[in-house]
Amino acid sequence: MSLLEVKDLTVEFHTDEGIVRAVDKISFSLEEGEILGVVGESGSGKSVSSLAVMGLLPRPPAKVSGQINFQGKNLLEVSGREIRAIRGKEISMIFQDPFTSLNPYLRISTQMMEVLEVHSQMSKAEARRRCIEVLTQLGVPEPEIRFNSFPHQLSGGLKQRIMIAMSLLLQPKILIADEPTTALDVTIQAQILELLKDINKRCGTAIIMITHDLGVVAGLCDRVQVMYGGRLAEKGTYEDIFYRPHHPYTQGLLDSIPSLEIEPGARLRPIPGSPPDLSALGDFCAFAPRCPRAQDICRQKRPLQTQVEGIHGFECYFPVREMKERGHGTQGQKA
Ligand SMILES: Nc1ncnc2c1ncn2[C@@H]1O[C@H](COP(=O)(O)OP(=O)(O)O)[C@@H](O)[C@H]1O
Ligand SMILES: [Mg+2]
Repeated sequence: MSLLEVKDLTVEFHTDEGIVRAVDKISFSLEEGEILGVVGESGSGKSVSSLAVMGLLPRPPAKVSGQINFQGKNLLEVSGREIRAIRGKEISMIFQDPFTSLNPYLRISTQMMEVLEVHSQMSKAEARRRCIEVLTQLGVPEPEIRFNSFPHQLSGGLKQRIMIAMSLLLQPKILIADEPTTALDVTIQAQILELLKDINKRCGTAIIMITHDLGVVAGLCDRVQVMYGGRLAEKGTYEDIFYRPHHPYTQGLLDSIPSLEIEPGARLRPIPGSPPDLSALGDFCAFAPRCPRAQDICRQKRPLQTQVEGIHGFECYFPVREMKERGHGTQGQKA
């Protein structure tokens, strides 16, 4: 059984302008100790889908359906009390912006200790020891001094380390990192990514790494899923996505990575056009308006998921790679 199994997750917001379907029937699973990369342009539903997993979407206005199975329970059906017990302890999340996630008026010590006070029966001395231990593990220099600091006394990279430390205090099984390096400069970004890799190796924490930059997940993730317009355009192993992409959008993302040489000689070019309006998405391929391969059928009916082999699948009628007959591969649909 997978550690986390999401089935047909759909999130709609009912707004004055109409219904926004931010997440549209996505299914995926996360295995114990694995790193899953979730990639897509801004507005593709990455944050909303993880907030749904965390039980952090206010319902209403959000309407959430499908299943989020974790340890034998559908998190969409458990009580508020139960989800609060799971959140932070079993599944924790770090957010994009370490500058606003910490309370500027409280010392790091107060904010870290509170996590342990809420979720564990540790004594003050034990809790303090645990905080310093995690800060040390995360390479925070002079942890005792930082522990007693206020957020504004720390650099952005250090604040993000503190946020990661807070999320790891209770040794969660799953850590969801929502664009944790976006607000940081490039060298600090690389350090934070190394840190996450190290946590995964050392503690076996499964990580969901969310990013708009496919380059970030290169060399980090076991599996990758590509989101577009609230849907899963493609999912597969790291190799499937980087070396055998089928969806034209995945191909477009690969072509727009500056630092990656997948195919020597390939030219760097951004994907023309802009992300779809999620309030107006009909039952057709969300990427069709921007897709160089789109034909009439793409604008008429949403393609179903086609399975390539193993966990590799995509939603497209006219994939960039020919679908060859492979031993155990099956084609789930015909165009
Ligand atoms: N509270 C809300 N009300 C209406 N629409 C929302 C709300 N929250 C998010 N959305 C919409 O959901 C879509 C997906 O957002 P999000 O998951 O934050 O994208 P990403 O994290 O991939 O950049 C966006 O179009 C956003 O405008
Ligand atoms: Mg986001």
